[in-house]
Amino acid sequence: MTDYTRPARVSIAPMMDWTDRHCRYFMRLLSPSVHLYTEMVTAAALKHGDAQKLLQFELCEHPIALQIGGSDPKLMAEAAKLGADKGYDEININVGCPSDRVQSGQFGACLMSQPDLVAACVGAMKSVVDIPVTIKTRIGIDDHDDYGFLRNFVIANVEAGCSTFIVHARKAILAGLSPKENRLIPPLNYDRVYRLKQEMPEITIILNGGVASIADCQRHLEQVDGVMVGRQAYQQPWFLTELEQAFGNGNAMPSRHAIVRQMLPYIEKEMALGAELKHITRHMLGLYAGQPGARAWRRYLSEHAHRIGGGIDVLETALTKLPQAA
Ligand SMILES: Cc1cc2nc3c(=O)[nH]c(=O)nc-3n(C[C@H](O)[C@H](O)[C@H](O)COP(=O)(O)O)c2cc1C
Repeated sequence: MTDYTRPARVSIAPMMDWTDRHCRYFMRLLSPSVHLYTEMVTAAALKHGDAQKLLQFELCEHPIALQIGGSDPKLMAEAAKLGADKGYDEININVGCPSDRVQSGQFGACLMSQPDLVAACVGAMKSVVDIPVTIKTRIGIDDHDDYGFLRNFVIANVEAGCSTFIVHARKAILAGLSPKENRLIPPLNYDRVYRLKQEMPEITIILNGGVASIADCQRHLEQVDGVMVGRQAYQQPWFLTELEQAFGNGNAMPSRHAIVRQMLPYIEKEMALGAELKHITRHMLGLYAGQPGARAWRRYLSEHAHRIGGGIDVLETALTKLPQAA
């Protein structure tokens, strides 16, 4: 049996509203081996909402990590247990998201200033699951923008049993910037992440933020254990096949058309269960980015996928707008 719990060399970032299960299915076709993450799900939503629906994923998505948001150790442990029982390979705690909604719930990036509380969550979660409990964090928040602050946060959580940290190499500014601005404005500081690995070589450090090419990945992998790619993988999905070629199992590169055709049975199955076509095709708009016909593909899907009664015929017609060899 494949051991999915090994540290990921290349992973795709959790992205709210983007890396839903339809997106992850599509990404998995493009790269059989990258490590995938769910969007953040709050521990409270898992307790009070439809947990089975929130946790749904396809077997092919392995290796797949569930990202949880929250700061109540008991609730976090319950959520972790639900995720482990469902079959996730890793539970990740969100200590990186700066949105107002997240801060009012006392989780996300603001928790960097409460390392002991996060450590209590780690301890509680680890006591009920056998899979790795990891943390995704920033390099700092607001005026806490130095190596010592990051180091203290990491040490507290290492002592609680966390041995893998995904570090977005930007600080978060908790007041005044939107989440989007918080992914653009604070400057990237890769050296701080590298230093963490140099000083704590026994800890698995995965670098995130601004990784946009194979050369970027290679450069960071000389310093840290893994890289996590966010926007580049979503906006240019073909990048996933390049990641697979460079770091995966050496599978033959598929064609874009073949990927679309492989999506068709999945789309039919999901639509029969009530999914809307546009909720799946929205993740596929960038598939032909940079290729002849990319605009026609994008436009056709955007204009037709929401039409009532449209099914896989919409994709089949969209394919006819493209040169055959793409
Ligand atoms: C649309 C969007 C939603 C995001 N949602 C989450 C989230 O749910 N949890 C999280 O930890 N980070 C979230 N992020 C941040 C990413 O995981 C990642 O840290 C960030 O985009 C930087 O990586 P990149 O430069 O490769 O995109 C989100 C990013 C985007 C663009």
